[in-house]
Order: sequence, then C-alpha cells, then structure tokens
Amino acid sequence: MKISIDRRDATEANVDVSVSGLPERAEKEEGLPRTLAREEAVTAGLVGIAWKNREIRGRRKEVTVFHRPDGKGRVGLVGLGPRDSVDVESIRRAAAEAVRALRGHSVQSIGLRLASFAIGSVAPEDAAAALAEGAVLGGYEFTRYRAPRDAPIEEATVFLGSEHGRLESAIRKAVERTRSVAEVVLWTRDLSNLPADTATPERLAEEARALGKEFDLKVTVFNEAKLAEMHCGGLLAVGGGSSHPPRLIVLEYAGGNRSGKTVAVVGKGITFDSGGISIKPALHMADMKFDKSGAVAVLGILRAAATLKLPPKVIGVLACAENLPGGGAYRPGDVVTTYNGKTIEILNTDAEGRVVLSDALAFAVDRYHPDVVIDLATLTGACVTALGDDTAGLISTNDALALALLDASARTGEPIWRLPLTDVHRELVKSEVADVRNSTEIPPAGALTAAAFLETFVGTTTAWAHLDIAGPAWTNSSTRKYQPAYLPVGATAFGVRLVTRYLEDGAR
Ligand code: BES
Ligand code: ZN
Ligand code: ZN
Repeated sequence: MKISIDRRDATEANVDVSVSGLPERAEKEEGLPRTLAREEAVTAGLVGIAWKNREIRGRRKEVTVFHRPDGKGRVGLVGLGPRDSVDVESIRRAAAEAVRALRGHSVQSIGLRLASFAIGSVAPEDAAAALAEGAVLGGYEFTRYRAPRDAPIEEATVFLGSEHGRLESAIRKAVERTRSVAEVVLWTRDLSNLPADTATPERLAEEARALGKEFDLKVTVFNEAKLAEMHCGGLLAVGGGSSHPPRLIVLEYAGGNRSGKTVAVVGKGITFDSGGISIKPALHMADMKFDKSGAVAVLGILRAAATLKLPPKVIGVLACAENLPGGGAYRPGDVVTTYNGKTIEILNTDAEGRVVLSDALAFAVDRYHPDVVIDLATLTGACVTALGDDTAGLISTNDALALALLDASARTGEPIWRLPLTDVHRELVKSEVADVRNSTEIPPAGALTAAAFLETFVGTTTAWAHLDIAGPAWTNSSTRKYQPAYLPVGATAFGVRLVTRYLEDGAR
C-alpha cells in the first residue's frame, strides 16, 4: 500500500473514502465531538443525525460509511474507544480496522484525517506514524497460493489540514520511518508463512544471501560439513531426520556508529517441528511450519536495521533445521556435544529448539563478543499456557536490558511480559549423564526451565534476553477475533518492530 502525506484537509481531496476517528460517546455527552465538524458539514448533517440517534457511538472496531450528498466520495468514521484512553496503539488499531472494513467495497484510495485522530496527549507525528503503520500492517494478506479475496486498497494518504500543516516535515520523517519498518514486517510475514516444503534451511540461507547483496551485509552460511567441523552437534542432531540438512546462517550489519554497541540477535529456525521421534499429535501440527518464526524475524530485524541505518552493529544468527522422525533422526537417550563442548542429554526430541539454539548462542558469544544477546524463539507451549497467544515471555537476568525491551514493547504495541529465572530452574535442567538435559521429568515452569537451559550456552558475563514468542508468532481465525486488526491470520512477524525499536533507541 502506498502511503502519502498531503497538507490539505481530507474532505477537500479526491479520495474514495475520507476516514476520521470518532471518540466514544461519554455518558452525558450530547453534541457531536468538535473534531468532526467538517465531516458534519460535508455530509450535510447526516453524521450529526446518526450521532444524535446513537447509530454511531465511537466504540472500538465500529466503522460507519456515509455518502456525501455532493457526490464527492464517502466519509468513513472509525471508533477510537473512550477519549481518555486514546493512545498510539488505539490509533494503529483504528487505521487497520478501517482498512479491513473498507477493502472490497470499491475503495482504492483512503484519506486519514489526522486532526480527528491526534487527540488527547498523542503527539501529531506519533499519531500520523500510527495511522500509516496500522494501514500498511492491516492491509496485509498472504496471497502466494491464492488470489486476493478482495481488491486491496492501493493508497492511504494522511491529511494534515490547517491544524497540522506546519508540522509537515516532522510528520513526513516519522511516517517514513514507520512505513519502512512496516514494509519489512510484511516481507517477514511473507517468508514466515511459507510452508516447510519451500522454506527449507537452505532456502532461508538463500534469503539471507539475497538480503546481504541488497544491503551490503556480510553473510556466512555453515552447511552440514562445516557444522561437523565446528562441533555443532545440536544442529546436526535435530536436522538428522530430514532430507533438508541444517544450516547455521550468520549476517553482519556493520552499524552506523563505529564505537557503538554490538548486538547479537539469535533466532530459532525450525522449518518444521513434527516433534521428531517424540512425535506431536496431528491436531494443529500444520502450525509447526511457523516454528521458524524467530529466525525469520532475525532476517527482518537485520533488514530493518540496514534500511534505517541504525547505529549499533547487529549480528544475526539463524539456527535452522527441520525436526522430523527418520532413519537419521536423533533419539531420546542420545547425548549430543555442542559448539562449546558442553553436552546435552536428549530426553524429548520435541524440545529441539533449545538444542539448535545451544550451538547458535555459544557461537554468537564466542565469535563476536557481543555486548548484548537477544534470542527469539517459538520455544515452549508452556509460555503460551502462561501468557496466552498475544504476549511473548521475556526472560533476562539483566535488568537494564529487560527494561529497555519492555519500553520498546510499550512503544510498538508488541506485548511482552517478564518472567523469573532462578536457581530452581537451573537445578531442574541438570542431567545425570551430561551437562544439561533438554527436558525435565516434572512439568512446572516449562518456559523457565527452557530459559535456564539456554543460559548455560550464553554464560553469565554477557547481557542476554530471551523472548519466547510461541504465542504471538502467528494467529489463526479464532485468535484473530480478539487480536488487533493489524495482525492478519498467519504469521505476525512478532519481534521485528519491537527489536528494531530497541536497536533504534540505543540498544541499552
Ligand atoms: N515448537 C514447540 C513449542 C510450541 C508449541 C510453539 C506450541 C508454539 C505452539 C517446541 O519445540 C516444543 O515442542 N516444546 C515442547 C517442549 C517440551 C517437550 C519440553 C513443549 O512446549 O511442549
Ligand atoms: Zn518441538
Ligand atoms: Zn519447536
């Protein structure tokens, strides 16, 4: 979707639908909100009549369309919810609601009247960026294998009007930054949505190489022979059952600031997780094509960092393998030796994410001595049980890093929630026969014992944060109902906006 900025008022321009935000009617509120005087005028009073009749109330998700009696297009109103609670996130959601509601109704272009959205304490440039972000993200549909259901909306224009015209340059800058990150999110969703027969570990390597060419990043791909030389026994074990061999993929973005920090971003890239010999039940197994979401998000983060020319140096590490049963598959009882020489007792082949990450985390720390390591992984069903399918688990023993990520989360609307990591969890992953075991006998705190396992491979001297994105990495048609309209069915690319914001804000 093309995004433009225009200094005129939306109601004076030639768009199919000019959309405005409608704050929810308070209990004793009588007259139409003053921000909608223009809408009232161009509809010859129809908006006011609908308000008076309580046909429109400004509730979230409410989208109403009026024809202008002068024949100059339509006026759309989208509910913002209670006036006092309007923030960047409600504006982002409202823009996406409008785009989704109008799509397929002979709408090629929409206008977004900034003055009606930038209310309360929201700065106009933040409101404008949120409108663009919601429109781009909400307009997404995965159409590689079928035609689009409805004709997509081609252009959204943010209209500044007399209210905000003098902020044009600041608004342009904010909108352009956010639009380009949103485009990266769509690119990431397209890749995450690919099924496992197409998105093999080698295909992800090809995508990394292409990204490297486009943005002048150094890309190194370690194939199975190289992985054997490097003693990456975790990746080799998990990938052993598949005819698509594992890959460790590394991308280096040099950073805009030579003295800046080095941040390693590590992703779980299981292109399909059948569970292996500890096979999963058939129900929902197809969703396990999304088990590569962490690794694909890392590609998106590198793309965003390079697009925005962010200051920190960023190292992306993707641990890619396909977890299938087969003659070469690893088994419960096996002991695996990893990159840093530590050994893992395999008790459950379905706890494979931590096994591939063991090599990737140890490699990242050993080769690059990063100031910060952040990993993204669809790691545990336990995290989904604890936090639901909209929120990622954040586990970090470094308070400054955790706070910086929570701040980035609040700003982007990608929810994360911090969980503890203590000696109880460290004790639970100890093994009788190896340094650690990949699964515990007793079930409690599965997300935390997984984190304790990962910590073994990062060590305690590097600032590290683990994001368990098993819940929010994708949505389905039932979870979509209560999630924001800017999340489509399928891959969400969770983490790309969050970690990009963290890097942009200085990677504390
Ligand atoms: N990829 C799964 C985790 C997962 C489950 C993500 C559901 C999204 C939705 C992971 O590899 C896995 O199977 N984890 C096991 C670990 C257990 C065997 C210790 C789990 O969570 O059950
Ligand atoms: Zn698994
Ligand atoms: Zn998995």
